[in-house]
Amino acid sequence: LTNIKDLYRRKEEFLEQEVTIGGWVRSIRNSKNFGFIVVNDGTFFEPLQVVYHDGLSNFAEVEKLNVGAAIMVRGKLVATPQAKQPFEIQAEEVLVEGQSTPDYPLQKKRHSFEYLRTISHLRPRTNTFEAVFRVRSLIAYAIHKFFQERDFVYVHTPLITGSDCEGAGEMFQVTTLDLKDVPKDDQGAVDFTQDFFGKPTNLTVSGQLNGETYAMAFKNIYTFGPTFRAENSNTTRHAAEFWMIEPEIAFADLEDDMILAESMLKYIIRYVLEHAPEEMQFFNQFVDKGLLERLNHVVDSDFAHVTYTEAIEILEKNNENFEYKVSWGADLQTEHERYLTEEVFKRPVFVTDYPKEIKAFYMKLNPDNKTVAAVDCLVPGIGEIIGGSQREDDYEKLCQRMEELGLEKEDYDFYLDLRKYGTARHAGFGLGFERCVMYLTGMTNIRDVVPFPRTVKNCEL
Ligand code: 4AD
Ligand code: MG
Repeated sequence: LTNIKDLYRRKEEFLEQEVTIGGWVRSIRNSKNFGFIVVNDGTFFEPLQVVYHDGLSNFAEVEKLNVGAAIMVRGKLVATPQAKQPFEIQAEEVLVEGQSTPDYPLQKKRHSFEYLRTISHLRPRTNTFEAVFRVRSLIAYAIHKFFQERDFVYVHTPLITGSDCEGAGEMFQVTTLDLKDVPKDDQGAVDFTQDFFGKPTNLTVSGQLNGETYAMAFKNIYTFGPTFRAENSNTTRHAAEFWMIEPEIAFADLEDDMILAESMLKYIIRYVLEHAPEEMQFFNQFVDKGLLERLNHVVDSDFAHVTYTEAIEILEKNNENFEYKVSWGADLQTEHERYLTEEVFKRPVFVTDYPKEIKAFYMKLNPDNKTVAAVDCLVPGIGEIIGGSQREDDYEKLCQRMEELGLEKEDYDFYLDLRKYGTARHAGFGLGFERCVMYLTGMTNIRDVVPFPRTVKNCEL
């Protein structure tokens, strides 16, 4: 079988030759003794037109094909200079692998994203979702390529863990104990020593703490895997299960961290523009009209930098227009993040040095004793896409911070060891993979960039 992508990309080799393709019927039109089938095989954004005649031994069967059917077609590839597609196959043989029924849900009309979410097993067969999920795949590859080319070691951090990296208490518990009949308030008294791991465990919210241990051995590492958060926020940007990329770099500070984040994002954008031009054109035309111009501009310009304190000063001037009014000490909401990146800076912006109270325990305390060496990267259309920091590398200061927050030192022995045995400046960040896919495609709902999304009250398939 030849991939339709190869027919398009290496047309000269295949024109006037016999080829065989396999794919699914997107549409079919019959006349008395001939007809046209548009076939998509998933290897390329453009489909392929098949012309068939009543000379086919199974003409009657082919005529009755329904949209969605799986077929194999053998025939000559011929140029069609008059038509909008560059070529078509003149079928000599059409093999029906699997007919489809007339109630196939994806008929040739446009369906709403809401409706397509209810058939997440079929939606990759539509133009939009074919484009989204190929681009998602390419972004994943580009990320690995970026880090591997720079000799970062890919570390597989565990999904089941006993710790809460972000300290936000938004964890899904993992247990074999039957907690069904235990009232929520009594669950603290459940004897987890009887459980599989002999202690309470949960799905990881971040691989960072494990990642840091490997950065203290390999210098530069990254993780790329699923993370889980039981955040009860039903928004277009939050999923309960999402993927995160978390690089960690040793002998590096917050400045190095931002340089890494900026070059990574630019690398990914360039890679996708180069390797999925048809899909990106499609997004630009049908999903987000300014997409290509915006992304090209990002690649060619520097990200903006602002401290949290400066950002608050800017935001306070616009407080009357915000639902949540800000003042120093408040966490930034999506509306504030988007205002900064869309209205004030009009490009990606790094916000640094947040108050320690609104950030995690592991962040390095700044000399002012009030802020930490944290950074969030905000992008237009989304808000926060990256969260990172320089880590507290001083044993005493880290212990003190953990005490302030009531964290049990015994639970973090391994983490404190890193500060005892050859501690080094280090920093890292987490890129939300789904938000990155949204940013590059212009899709506005996280449910539409995850093959099978898990969100509040939704775990279909
Ligand atoms: O800002 P966060 O919570 O940072 C961390 O987890 C750090 N441990 C990262 C590090 O320094 N290694 O999450 C990082 C990113 C966010 O910027 C956001 O893009 C994404 O993860 N994210 C989510 N994406 C989808 N759904 C959710 N519920 C998300 N929560 C965070
Ligand atoms: Mg964050």
